Amino acid sequence: MSADLLTADLFESVPDLRPSREAMADGAVLLRGFARPVEAELIAAIGEIVAQAPFRHMVTPGGHSMSVAMTNCGSAGWVTDRSGYRYDGVDPESGAPWPAMPRSFRVLAARAAAEAGFDGFAPDACLINRYHTGARMSLHQDKDEDDFSAPIVSVSLGLPAVFLFGGLQRSDKPRRFRLEHGDIVVWGGPSRLFFHGIAPLADGEHALLGRQRINLTFRKAR
Ligand code: SIN
Ligand code: FE2
Repeated sequence: MSADLLTADLFESVPDLRPSREAMADGAVLLRGFARPVEAELIAAIGEIVAQAPFRHMVTPGGHSMSVAMTNCGSAGWVTDRSGYRYDGVDPESGAPWPAMPRSFRVLAARAAAEAGFDGFAPDACLINRYHTGARMSLHQDKDEDDFSAPIVSVSLGLPAVFLFGGLQRSDKPRRFRLEHGDIVVWGGPSRLFFHGIAPLADGEHALLGRQRINLTFRKAR
């Protein structure tokens, strides 16, 4: 049996793993527990990626070191430095291409997107964000991609976090959603350019990942 079929079986046969969906906005859906059936594969693959392309604190164009540590996999990696934000095929730390995107990542992201109404999602970029206690991501739009017709698929692992989800204007008051291990948020269509962020991470201990939260953000960059 293929890994895909096995996963599909798991979704249907184990009641506790059956995901639930919550509408967040037009084009935005929270799929609770959607990544749980493949958590072990995801965590093992993250370990392999980080061995090749370690987490690092990138610097914003304004010169601030980000509290979230980042790395990437896929053919396009999101980077920031004093010269700006961009996608780059190579890791500027090593000069080598970013690690390939594991099949388990691509399959999960495409499934989640389809569940949210976006068929045919084929991400070429996966930004991996690591939050330790107090790390945060201020409100921003994901707009460094060439084409906004593809959605964003965002997977939460480890410690819970508060996701801030606003609107098209920075001044739109964000709503707060608690994201737990295994939850996936998909936003696209009318909400593709909504401002979003993560409130400072509260301390805690997660059974699989310890004192951290890891987020996988899938995008079609090019
Ligand atoms: C991001 O917007 O890049 C990260 C969101 C998250 O960590 O959930
Ligand atoms: Fe983002």
